Amino acid sequence: MKRIYNDINLAERNSFGVVQRAKTLIEFETADDLREIFSEQRPDKWYVLGEGNNTLFTRDWDGVLLTPVARGVSVIDEDDDSMSLRVEAGANWDELVEWCVERGLWGMENLSLIPSSVGAAPVQNIGAYGAEAKDVITVVEYFDTRDLSVVRLDREACSFAYRESIFKHELKGVAIILAVEFKLSKTPRPNLGYGDVIGEVEARGGATLRNIRDAVCAIRSRKLPDTKVLGNAGSFFKNPIVDVAVADRLTAEYPEMPRYALPNDMAHVKLAAGWLIDKAGLKGYREGNVGVHDRQALVLVNHGGATGSEVIALSQRVCREVKSRFGVDIVPEVNIL
Ligand code: EPU
Repeated sequence: MKRIYNDINLAERNSFGVVQRAKTLIEFETADDLREIFSEQRPDKWYVLGEGNNTLFTRDWDGVLLTPVARGVSVIDEDDDSMSLRVEAGANWDELVEWCVERGLWGMENLSLIPSSVGAAPVQNIGAYGAEAKDVITVVEYFDTRDLSVVRLDREACSFAYRESIFKHELKGVAIILAVEFKLSKTPRPNLGYGDVIGEVEARGGATLRNIRDAVCAIRSRKLPDTKVLGNAGSFFKNPIVDVAVADRLTAEYPEMPRYALPNDMAHVKLAAGWLIDKAGLKGYREGNVGVHDRQALVLVNHGGATGSEVIALSQRVCREVKSRFGVDIVPEVNIL
């Protein structure tokens, strides 16, 4: 079933809370709904808007927004050690994590409280605290708008990397994700290597699934603003990946600078954009209705009434300052429309 809205206000449908309108928004459930949309009056301009947690509207949208609303979760396979699930794109990510934690299924707990729909998770390969969605995804099922078919893509074919996937490149403007399949472990697999996580887990009495989820929720809630209170899209920028020589030059000057080795790539290092922005003196910086969050400089916030253009102006300022201070380019991870 589909539901069509015309000339709709998007303020409640983007976590930045910017006030823009869309000409048409269609909530859909199935591939058949999409087949109707793309065969009857094929939209020239369309974009999939999930929960709107990673999209910044800078102007009114004069095309069609497509929002998946089917939220079903089904068990497709199970053995002594694992359970495989098929989850429809409109399901809420954190509700799925809770569902898994309640049932003793390991693999998603470090990704607790990430604001996302399930369908958006593979697009940017959401990640936090040493885990990424790709670690548990087995298949992504999408609707191909070219030939109106449904395609199942194995994890290996999704070109997953840090905040990257095929859905941001070859399949951008082509694929509409319908469902994602996951394989979770029944055997405990705690992943406590990142930052404060181990301390928070130990303070709660050890590495149970529930304690890890609670620890991650506590850390996130301390650092990241609640979108209901302060509009934001999580990390606005990606952490930059630079040549080792660049990182070494910076480490010589700032020995305390965080840097992360990359798996299978000795020539590059990932830096913490939040640290660079903070060190450039911009944490808590405010320009009119927008600002850099005062507890995590990677996050830009809407202090109320901000337009998308104001956010863009601030983001450009942040990029310029980081470039001039450290010689490093940072780029938005948020989709800018
Ligand atoms: N840091 C600062 N100042 C800041 C922010 C960070 O000095 O204002 C330092 C921290 O002390 C730490 C390092 O920078 O040494 C990294 O900070 P943090 O652990 O908070 O993580 P991050 O690299 O800034 C990434 C993800 C987050 C995810 C965290 C935890 C990206 C773009 N962001 O941030 O994801 O929650 O790691 O794993 O990779 C998101 O995507 O929306 C998001 C919040």
